[in-house]
Amino acid sequence: MAKATPTVYVTRRFADSGIKALKSAGYKVDVYSEDKPIPRKELLKNVKGRTALLPLLTDRIDDKVLDAAGKGLKVVANYAVGFDNIDVEAAKKRGITVTNTPHDKVNEAVAEHTFALMISLARRIAEADAYAKAGKYGHWSPTLLTGTDLYGKTLGIIGAGRIGAAVARRAVMGFGMKLVYSDMRPNKDLEKAYDAKRLTMEKLLETADFVSLHVPLLPSTRHLISTAEFALMKKTAFLVNTARGPVVDEKALLRALKTKRIAGAGIDVFECEPAIDCDLTDNLELKSFPNVILTPHIASATIEAREAMSMVAAENIIAVLSGKPPITPVK
Ligand code: DGY
Repeated sequence: MAKATPTVYVTRRFADSGIKALKSAGYKVDVYSEDKPIPRKELLKNVKGRTALLPLLTDRIDDKVLDAAGKGLKVVANYAVGFDNIDVEAAKKRGITVTNTPHDKVNEAVAEHTFALMISLARRIAEADAYAKAGKYGHWSPTLLTGTDLYGKTLGIIGAGRIGAAVARRAVMGFGMKLVYSDMRPNKDLEKAYDAKRLTMEKLLETADFVSLHVPLLPSTRHLISTAEFALMKKTAFLVNTARGPVVDEKALLRALKTKRIAGAGIDVFECEPAIDCDLTDNLELKSFPNVILTPHIASATIEAREAMSMVAAENIIAVLSGKPPITPVK
């Protein structure tokens, strides 16, 4: 009997290269056609009988979806580095491989965006842009929109994995910053290359002028930065989050901003994403602070990174369906 053609379900249109690679490998590929998250009902219907799923971070892949896909499902190749949208244990129990997309191009893109936020905060770029565009620039003044240097300041990286290391390189080689980091494991390469000092998170928060988060969202990292952590930070320090929204307790962040406990924040990811604020019962809105820069989860949004993510996801599927080890498995 001829072997059935594997079928792949992709939950959103994205860079073509990955889709082409999957088709060239001989698979039947179906792509959700709309440019918005697939409704749960449709997801449950459309995954039925698939050999591979290629979801986005907006799709919750849990027991229900895995059951709906059925026994033929071999691999879930997430189109993201983060995989908090996937119940990895539920997949493991069923013998389904889960993969993600930690490509250099993605790491570098996120590191660049982290710096875009840091520079914008330090040099008040968003405020200056609004000021100039509003026609307010009447005369030069030595006190107009003064910011702070990055040069000579201390960057504290929480999570010294691949993205953290790409941020570290920029900080030391590009901006003459000092580096401290906290991580469960020491990163000897970082220490050797950039004279980075490993500190407890508490000590890091007390020391750093800029704190940048690069941890995955896990039960242990949910609200990693909350009231007690803000209390440790310097009043002149900035927080940058390009990791996952719930790593920061949004209510605590709002309070820290309101009481000027910290100097500002650059936020790319939100606790109740895509909502910018979880609730407005305390009449505090992230967008109301001039010293807060918000971007809508675009840290990895470069053409190069998106292409790479598309190819890595496809190559993971091709590897697993050919009986080879996945390239970037989630463990
Ligand atoms: C990731 O890869 O996890 C980003 O958050 C989305 O590209």
